[in-house]
Amino acid sequence: MKSYLSWACGTCLLGLHLSGCNTRHTTASKASGTPASATATVVPSLKETFQKDFRIGTAFDFTQAAGRDTNTSRLIGRHFNAVTPENTMKAMHLHPEWDRYNFGPADRLVAYAQQNNMPLNGHTLVWHSQLPGFMRRMKNADSVRHFFTDHITTVASRYKGKVYSWDVVNEALNEDGSLRRSVFLQHLGEGYIVEAFRLANQAAPDAELYYNDYNIEQPKKRAGTMALIKKLQSAGVRIDGVGIQGHWHIDNLPLAAIEESILAYAALGVKVMFTELDLTVLPNPWQNNTADIGRTAEGSAAMNPYTQGLPDSVQVKLAKAYQDLFTLFLKHADKITRVTFWGVNDGHSWLNNFPIRGRTNYPLLFDRNNQPKPAFYAVINTKSNNGIEKLNE
Ligand code: G3I
Repeated sequence: MKSYLSWACGTCLLGLHLSGCNTRHTTASKASGTPASATATVVPSLKETFQKDFRIGTAFDFTQAAGRDTNTSRLIGRHFNAVTPENTMKAMHLHPEWDRYNFGPADRLVAYAQQNNMPLNGHTLVWHSQLPGFMRRMKNADSVRHFFTDHITTVASRYKGKVYSWDVVNEALNEDGSLRRSVFLQHLGEGYIVEAFRLANQAAPDAELYYNDYNIEQPKKRAGTMALIKKLQSAGVRIDGVGIQGHWHIDNLPLAAIEESILAYAALGVKVMFTELDLTVLPNPWQNNTADIGRTAEGSAAMNPYTQGLPDSVQVKLAKAYQDLFTLFLKHADKITRVTFWGVNDGHSWLNNFPIRGRTNYPLLFDRNNQPKPAFYAVINTKSNNGIEKLNE
């Protein structure tokens, strides 16, 4: 197998630049004799590379887009043509009190997306998590119904014509495909999902409407998702797409299940999206049956092994995993409409704080300085097929 650095230089010789590569790119490479002009630093754009295939989205909140961090704003504009607010549109932020909404940050993000021609996916209208405090304390079905109806209608109609799509319902299923015993299921019964889509359609008839969840590539949860989609369809209620979140581990990428799921969902006539893509490289504390993660694992060096940087071997593994994924996505590009990364760069990722706070993770394509990683080039190279297959030589 070639070393990562020799592959990195090989890629640089194609006119790309890899962080971590020691070659001086402003001068001719001794090894190859490539002239300096051919090694100029030109980072290809993700969105342009895949423009004929699917949109490339990213999650961020307004602070990252507002120009306070100009480096990140530039990166967003260059590489992404879709956005999902990571937190801004969750009920606890949008609807902090029973009779009060706080639309300011979401309005600014929606305006930013419009100005920058980035279709915005509203995330999310109905989710059991990140609910406002008053809602979590609610015991009465009428109050829950009032919140549910008012929230969906008020939020979806405010952004009518401005938000491209909505994750109408998020994470309503258990791992076995049954319905999660959320506050909505408990008080509104099984029909709440159909009702949510009906209300969203009434309030925002031009927006695409999606169901979004994690692990729904896995057979049991996939079956539950398919049943949910069929239920909406047989009730005559519109659902346009399904979002497979895509929070996976580099050592456990379920490629076969992902492919089966793309085919199965597409066969139901809905669009398929990968909506929260990131690949963790860190150990999973639950594999060791450590029940009390908070106290035993936080601060543990074994659980946070890469604080000084990612070793080449793991960098290569991450790049290979992304290569395999995008090769699959391209194979089914006729069924996939969007691939969204959950965060702009490694420093922004929620995976630095979950399931253990304060770790150093590397799950995305850009590093903490917004430099493209080997995984970035592996993804780009899936379009030209001259990428890291070389690693296997
Ligand atoms: O902003 C506050 C900060 O002021 C405070 O000091 C700090 C202390 O805890 O918390 C900060 O808020 C955190 C927020 O992320 C912004 O970083 C919250 O604690 C934290 O709970 C929140 O986590 C978010 C998580 O959803 C829960 O809503 C993650 O950013 C976000 O990436 C994650 O996204 C979810 C999707 O919505 C649904 N699918 C799973 C995905 C990952 O959990």
